[in-house]
Amino acid sequence: SPVIDRFDLFTIVFNIIISIIGGIVVNRLIPMLKEKFIKAQLWGYDLNKRNSKEIKVAESQGVIVAGIFLVLMFIMIAIVFSEHLHPESDFPNHKFVEYLAALLSICCMVLLGFADDVIDIRWNVKLWLPMIASLPLLLVYFANYHSTTIILPKPVRPYFGQQWNLGILYYVYMSMVAIFCTHAINILAGVNGLEVGQSVIIAGSVLIFNLIELQGICAEEHLFSLYFMIPLIACSIPLLIRNWCPAEVFVGDTYCYFAGMTFAVIGILGHFSKTMLLFFIPQIINFLLSVPQLFKFIPCPRHRLPKLDPALNKLNPSDVEFKKKDLKPLGWLMLRFFSLTKFIRYREYQNNDNETMINTTNFTIINSVLCWFGPLHEEKLSRILMLIQLVFGSLLTFFVRYYLVRFFYDS
Ligand code: UD1
Ligand code: MG
Repeated sequence: SPVIDRFDLFTIVFNIIISIIGGIVVNRLIPMLKEKFIKAQLWGYDLNKRNSKEIKVAESQGVIVAGIFLVLMFIMIAIVFSEHLHPESDFPNHKFVEYLAALLSICCMVLLGFADDVIDIRWNVKLWLPMIASLPLLLVYFANYHSTTIILPKPVRPYFGQQWNLGILYYVYMSMVAIFCTHAINILAGVNGLEVGQSVIIAGSVLIFNLIELQGICAEEHLFSLYFMIPLIACSIPLLIRNWCPAEVFVGDTYCYFAGMTFAVIGILGHFSKTMLLFFIPQIINFLLSVPQLFKFIPCPRHRLPKLDPALNKLNPSDVEFKKKDLKPLGWLMLRFFSLTKFIRYREYQNNDNETMINTTNFTIINSVLCWFGPLHEEKLSRILMLIQLVFGSLLTFFVRYYLVRFFYDS
């Protein structure tokens, strides 16, 4: 039957209880361990503070969150499957494999993130690793569901038919989701509280979505997702508090990859990857805006985070300079497009050698917000970005999913 039974309710309550305990443990561990991280050279300067070069801030605290999260999930698996442990019961191997594959993929990304924090892996190498890490997941998807058919929206059905079988393309799409989710959070970063703040908002939205859908026909998938989201939120909140402006610790790439992959895994195995992507609308816009710099059409500095004006103690957009003659036609087109749409600001000038130079703000929505409303204090900027996440990520998604959708699909 589609509705959840009493044992499921028990598992949810159990999950909430161990998640709260997990959150308390993370809250204790961070202050205990941060000095050890600094000793191990895992630290960074908080670049947008007036006294930035005086204080070492511990990096990679996300590994603590991820560690406790994994512990909770292993306990959770034992509880969820305890129902089937007596000899007469049919052990649901297919479901068990789903949990293991999900955790394997998440584990791999925690490892990659930590390695990235320690040795800075090259961008063009680390870009593809989530795809490989998601392979076990895709295999499980293949074995358990096999369905690669999408239902087309009503308005286009007269031209393209009721449904399409995407076949192998569907698997390509799912590995793209894995790549996108793992990196999207990491490139929308550089302001205190932003990485973990956006993750908590996304996780909270997924949680609400799961609770609504628990009454529907896909209750089992949404229950599965709940088991992951509750501990993710509970373990992330203590980190958010300590990472909020002024940051006591940094989350590191470990946290970004860990949270991102968790969302990807849940979206794929929960069969709501499209809704999941809607929760990522700000990240999608930030990614599209970043494409010119990520793929080197326009030079990309090591850091694109905003620049502090020490006199005002407020942030301005950071910028990058290059010779106009080095710009390829496509790069020029991108520069013009994002300048016309007001996402960036650029100017041309002559340098001492009489060459035409271009100075442009960096291509992230963080800098765009500063172009529109700046200069802003770091905490204010962080709050605005949280608001954007809430409105354009979460509220918009619920509007599309529960209101607009009726014009495109039946029921
Ligand atoms: C990504 C971004 C980069 C951004 C950086 C900031 C891309 C392609 N890369 O790089 O533009 O500058 O994140 O996290 O978009 N830091 C702060 N304040 C913060 C957060 C970070 O000063 O609130 C600084 C600290 O020095 C910290 C360092 O950024 O040590 C962490 O950077 P890291 O996560 O290694 O950068 P990337 O993820 O490679
Ligand atoms: Mg990072």
